[in-house]
Amino acid sequence: MRWLARFFLALSLPLLLAPIAPAGDGLALTPPMGWNSWNKFGCNVSEKLIRGTADAIEAGGLKDAGYQYVVIDDCWQVSRDATGKIVADPERFPSGIKAVADYVHSKGLKFGIYSDAGTLTCAKRPGSKDHEAQDAKTYAEWGVDYLKYDWCSTDGQDTRDSYARMSRALRASGRSIVFSICEWGGTKPWLWAQGIGHLWRATGDIQDCWDCGKSWGGMGVAHIIDIMADIHAYSGPGHWNDPDMLEVGNGGLTLAENRAHFSFWALFAAPLMAGNDLQAMTPEVREILTNREVIAVDQDPLGMQGRKVWDDGPREVWVKPLADGSKAVILFNRGTEESAFAARWEDVGLFPGGKAVVRDLWKKADVGTFDGRYEAKVEPHGVVMVKLTPQF
Ligand code: GLA
Repeated sequence: MRWLARFFLALSLPLLLAPIAPAGDGLALTPPMGWNSWNKFGCNVSEKLIRGTADAIEAGGLKDAGYQYVVIDDCWQVSRDATGKIVADPERFPSGIKAVADYVHSKGLKFGIYSDAGTLTCAKRPGSKDHEAQDAKTYAEWGVDYLKYDWCSTDGQDTRDSYARMSRALRASGRSIVFSICEWGGTKPWLWAQGIGHLWRATGDIQDCWDCGKSWGGMGVAHIIDIMADIHAYSGPGHWNDPDMLEVGNGGLTLAENRAHFSFWALFAAPLMAGNDLQAMTPEVREILTNREVIAVDQDPLGMQGRKVWDDGPREVWVKPLADGSKAVILFNRGTEESAFAARWEDVGLFPGGKAVVRDLWKKADVGTFDGRYEAKVEPHGVVMVKLTPQF
């Protein structure tokens, strides 16, 4: 019998020694980073804009900071031809989508596009309903790497079924395509979308303002932060809660609010899709979007979404555990006056009697070694974002 045991051991040894395979299909193991046309340009998309943006991502340091996907949102499509194939706007995309994708790829970047699970997109362009396989094949032919898939004109459709249908079509297309689900959180996609898509919108459409609900469901940054607080357990490598694309640099937020917005998206392990005009941005905005220490929090391989651990009215402390055992912490002041308050080790998951080195991620500097707590002054609608590394 001993030879039998040896035989089975020999068979299983390579398996035991093999590297652990990533979960799922290996896509989006850290939150996708890139740019999307919608927040700034709406329907005003063109191949000139996409090429110019790809150039700006490469030349302006965003590519080096990790931004990868260049995504055309709604309005690139106008009709279907006699065979049902989707047709791009010939005036805005005279070279065709494949040429634009090739250009984006030539910059070492990836290319994304938008469609909708219903009959029409939200801007009333043709949706993909009943054309899923055909569209997925077309995207693969064009070299699409990322599909954002919206939820307008879907009367009577089931979210899970509709998104699963496109998910299967993408998988059958022969190309690896990140699938971004956009049903705005209505049917709690965090409960069903893992394995169907790589990210799912958890909220209504972000607006370029701090706190400004719209009757149709648009919401400001502060409101989105609250929605994300409740669903932190559902995010992880290959399956991310998406609080919508960034409004950093679009003009409606103060510098402090822009920093707070970007800090929270990083703490949430959110997809970081810039939504401003990358061809014309101020040095302050560039500095925010390319803060590598904050981006490293977002891209941390552990992939945990941060959560709120303390509040006292408008003063809040949030924490995101990182793979190396350190903690990213946000001190958040929702109020309208400057305020000083502390992150206590016991609240952020560090040994209460221990010491930790504190690094300020916006000052990009170590601020010292602290015992039990770290207190800082936080500006109104602002954050202090630090990394706490315990000392043993
Ligand atoms: C919806 C989405 C937005 C954007 C528009 C395009 O509102 O949530 O992000 O894609 O449609 O029409």
